[in-house]
Parts: sequence; C-alpha cells; structure tokens
Amino acid sequence: MSLKTIKRSLIFFCVCIMAASSTFAGEVEVLHWWTSGGEAKSVAVLKSLLEAEGHTWKDFAVAGGGGDTAMTVLRSRVMSGNPPTAAQVKGPQIQQWGDEDVLTNLDVVAEAGNWDRLLPKAVADAMKYQGHYVAVPVNVHRVNWMWCNPEVFRKAGAKIPTTWAGFLEAAEKIKEAGFVPVAFGGQAWQEATVFETVVLGVGGPDFYRKALVETDSAALNSPTMVKCLETFKSIKQYTDKDASGRDWNLATAMVINGKAAMQFMGDWAKGEFTAAGKNSGSDYLALPAPQTSGDFLFNIDSFIMFNVKDDEAKKAQNAMARLIMEPKFQEVFNVNKGSIPVRMDMDRSPFDDTALRSLDEFTSSSVRGTLLPSMAHEMAVFPAVRGAIFDVITNYYNGDASAAATAAQLEEQVKSAM
Ligand code: GAL
Repeated sequence: MSLKTIKRSLIFFCVCIMAASSTFAGEVEVLHWWTSGGEAKSVAVLKSLLEAEGHTWKDFAVAGGGGDTAMTVLRSRVMSGNPPTAAQVKGPQIQQWGDEDVLTNLDVVAEAGNWDRLLPKAVADAMKYQGHYVAVPVNVHRVNWMWCNPEVFRKAGAKIPTTWAGFLEAAEKIKEAGFVPVAFGGQAWQEATVFETVVLGVGGPDFYRKALVETDSAALNSPTMVKCLETFKSIKQYTDKDASGRDWNLATAMVINGKAAMQFMGDWAKGEFTAAGKNSGSDYLALPAPQTSGDFLFNIDSFIMFNVKDDEAKKAQNAMARLIMEPKFQEVFNVNKGSIPVRMDMDRSPFDDTALRSLDEFTSSSVRGTLLPSMAHEMAVFPAVRGAIFDVITNYYNGDASAAATAAQLEEQVKSAM
C-alpha cells in the first residue's frame, strides 16, 4: 500500500469516527402511565421528537389511569438503585423526590429555554426543589368537566344539567329512555375525581380549598361535606352494573358510542374523543360539571429527571427537557391530549373551542381566586393524605356507611395521615 493510500484511508477513518460520534446519542428511559388511545398518541409525539434528534426512547409504561401503580413501580426501581431517566411525577411529590437526593439539576436547560419567563410563577415554583429546576411541566388539565353525548340527551328528551338538581332530573329521563346516564369507572382515583368535582360544585371554591387543600378539620366534618357526600353518592344509581373496576377510557368510549349520556372526568377524556375522530360542539359537548362554571380544578403533568451517570444519557435527558417546553411539542401534544399548553406565549390558532375556553378560564379563574389544585390528581396534598381521602371515599361509595359517619371519618383519617 502506498503512503498516499494509507494517508487517504486514515483521513477516511477519522471522518467516519467524527460522523459517528456527532450522531451518537443517548437513551432516555421514561416512566409514564399514558396507555389509553389518546394518551399513547400524545406521548408518541415526544418519542418522535427525541428520535428525530438521534436519541433512543425506552418506553417504561405502567398502565393504570391516575398513575398510582406507576408510582409504586417507580419507588421500587429507585430504591433498587436503578431509576429511569425521567418519570411522570406531579405536584407535592416532586418535593418528596427532591428530599431523596436523586434528582438532577435542570437549571442550564431552563435558563436557555427561558422557563422562568414562559411559565406561570406558581407552576415554575412547583417544578423547583430548593430553588433549582428538577422537573419539567408538560401541560395543564382541567378536572371539573362533564362530557356529554348530545344525541343521547336529545333522544331522552333531557336537558344538559348545570346544577346537581338538574342532573337528577336529566339522569332520570335518560335512564327511562334506556341509556346509561353516567359512564363511570369504579376505581378509587376515578371515584375521587368525581367526588372532588362534586365538592367544588356543591360546597363552592372556598369550601373546596378549606376541605381538600388545607384539609381543615371543621370543613371535612361539616354539614356542607355531608351534603357533598350525599350528592356524590346519588350518582351511583345512574351508573351501570359493570362500572366497578372499569378503566376511565372505557367509560369515555360509552359516551363516544352513544351507550351513555355523560361522564364526569378531566379533559384527558377529550384525547379519547379526538383519537376517535370526534368533534367538540357537534359529536360531543364539553361543559363544566354542575355548579362549577368559572371554576378551574387544575392538574399539571410533569416529568422529574433523575441523576444519570453517562454523558450521552445526560445529553438525551437535557434534550427531552428542552423539547417538552418547545412550542412544537406544546402544540401537538396538547391538541392530542385534551390539555392546554403550560407555556404562556403559545399561538391559539391550533386549538379548538374547548381548549380555548379552558385557556381563558385558566386565566380568569386565577384572577377570581377560583383556580384550585386537584386533590385527586396530586396537586393539593401529600400522598399519605390523598391516600387517606381515597380510602374513605371509596369505602363510602361502595359501602353502606352514612354520609355523616363518613364526614367524621374523613376528619379522623386525614388527621392521622398528616
Ligand atoms: C392523570 C394525568 C392525566 C391523565 C389521567 C388518566 O393523573 O394527569 O394526564 O393521563 O391521569 O390517566
């Protein structure tokens, strides 16, 4: 081989190495519970954006709406010293993971992306541990929605309710007409979701804050709480016999296919309507749950990021954090997911009427003081307190205890969980 050929081969070899190292990228293993049709479609947006930058997505999906199973799995992975790169974790739990000293610092990405300027201050603060970003917010969901099939209401000659008294009237007619009035999933987190929506409507925003955010004993065990519990339980007679254990998206499907008239659920339900090709306003109606018009129970999804050793994995992790906050992801993900963007400077034109109402009411409820954190979706209280409320509510919904005895139990159980 001539010297020239050797030189040429060497140059070629170096160029190959350089090309390979510039495209070599890391892997992110992402724990989440987005497994329904609409959810899977939404999370696929993040996967493809990361893959477009050369990174690898290792999916760590743990089925189970509301994420309780996912959180148990996450804990055991971290405890065994093998955390994923990122995990879907929300609200006060972010602080608890911060205390464990396992989270990475995302300040450099946040600064480059201007997160402090783009996020509502309360959201930015919730993503920080001791002043440093350890989590990245994805979206804002509104919990207190009612999803209606207008055709079923029309066939039953029922009016869409705006009050809980109106709900009983409508539900009776719908039942008589042979439809299921309320599509319901009998799982603790879904029962708690409907319960908190009733508390907001029947008790009003101030009562909701006292009872389910401040967990004030006098509010938990009060005549108003008794009324809330009774209203909540009155829904049960309008659900079908297969409700127990049903997944939330299967309940949404009952509204989509005209078996049921309505579902009380957060706007991740909208993701199911969207995935089924349905349009709001014609195929389905999204309205505030009875007596909650103008109030906004918020649920913000976010990912915490764990310490990773490997440089390439760190690059991929930073890319994931950056991409989540970029307009492209915020738009496509939220259109699919049924939520609204968390960054405040987004173009409104890609969003439909339901999303725009949510966007407007997010702002207006914040001005009025009726923007409230969801207890059921981990925004309001620590997991132990949330768990205590879940236990009392699920036992009440599925058992024979009176509303008065249950209110007393709420006070007691919450106190001992604190
Ligand atoms: C919520 C989560 C939503 C949605 C829902 C059902 O807790 O914030 O994004 O996925 O559970 O799984």
